[in-house]
Amino acid sequence: MPNLLILGGTTEANALAKSVAGQGIPAIYSYAGRVDTPRPQPIPTRVGGFGGAAGLARYIRDHRISHVVDATHPFAAQMSRNAVNVCDATGIPLVALTRAPWASGAQDRWQHVPDIAAAVGALSGPAQRIFLAVGRMHLADFATQPQHHYLLRLVDQPQELPMPNRDVIVSRGPFSVEGDVALMERHNTELVVSKNAGGTGARAKLDAASALGVPVLMIDRPVLPQRTEFTSVPQVLDWLAHSGVNLGV
Ligand SMILES: NC(=O)c1ccc[n+]([C@@H]2O[C@H](COP(=O)([O-])OP(=O)(O)OC[C@H]3O[C@@H](n4cnc5c(N)ncnc54)[C@H](OP(=O)(O)O)[C@@H]3O)[C@@H](O)[C@H]2O)c1
Repeated sequence: MPNLLILGGTTEANALAKSVAGQGIPAIYSYAGRVDTPRPQPIPTRVGGFGGAAGLARYIRDHRISHVVDATHPFAAQMSRNAVNVCDATGIPLVALTRAPWASGAQDRWQHVPDIAAAVGALSGPAQRIFLAVGRMHLADFATQPQHHYLLRLVDQPQELPMPNRDVIVSRGPFSVEGDVALMERHNTELVVSKNAGGTGARAKLDAASALGVPVLMIDRPVLPQRTEFTSVPQVLDWLAHSGVNLGV
């Protein structure tokens, strides 16, 4: 009997969960537990870290996991590295379900940086009004550049924030280009800082920046170990079917 572990927290993972539920494939959805109220899933869900690579290996063994799909966010590098290492070591088949990175067009004014630290370093100049769209986890890094005014859009209301000058909007995507143009006009945004997440849900801010002629500081993706990557749910289902999982039961 197959038993799929979906490493989730993304739109792609949610779509896969819906499909495997529809096909009756036994599967467990794993959340890191970063947001207060994770979306309910149509399959059994677990929440919280596994306890490093050793914990993940133990979880896979104890729960008789037969296949792993890493559908985490492209910046969830630690989880993805652990998944590759553990699946390599235990022989459990693994694929990633991910999305292509965003690419700039002729209208775009993007400056690329390799990681969060380089993005922080690039902000060492005079005060600007910055739309900092990097999520909650790395805000403390940017607090080392306190001269700026930051517009923060977060999934949950934060308890406390490390930067003195900021406006907070609590909202969960997807967002529209019109909405983000209006938001950036209202806040006189001079620069957008974004991770290169890819996908459609968070793309609006880049199109809005393009429409307004606002530059973007684009944080490139972390480099991950070699693994098989798919970009659609049907590809993952095909892979499952070819690795002996009986679909449509
Ligand atoms: N990074 C982003 O920009 C971003 C954006 C949107 C959504 N997310 C989602 O948020 C979650 C955390 O992302 P992150 O960047 O903090 O990850 P990360 O830095 O790669 O992970 C740090 C640790 O969090 C735990 N973890 C991460 N994803 C998990 C999952 N799906 N299930 C169980 N444990 C998980 C693991 O703990 P142990 O070592 O203890 O197992 C992992 O070592 C992921 O599910 C990701 O898909 C991230």
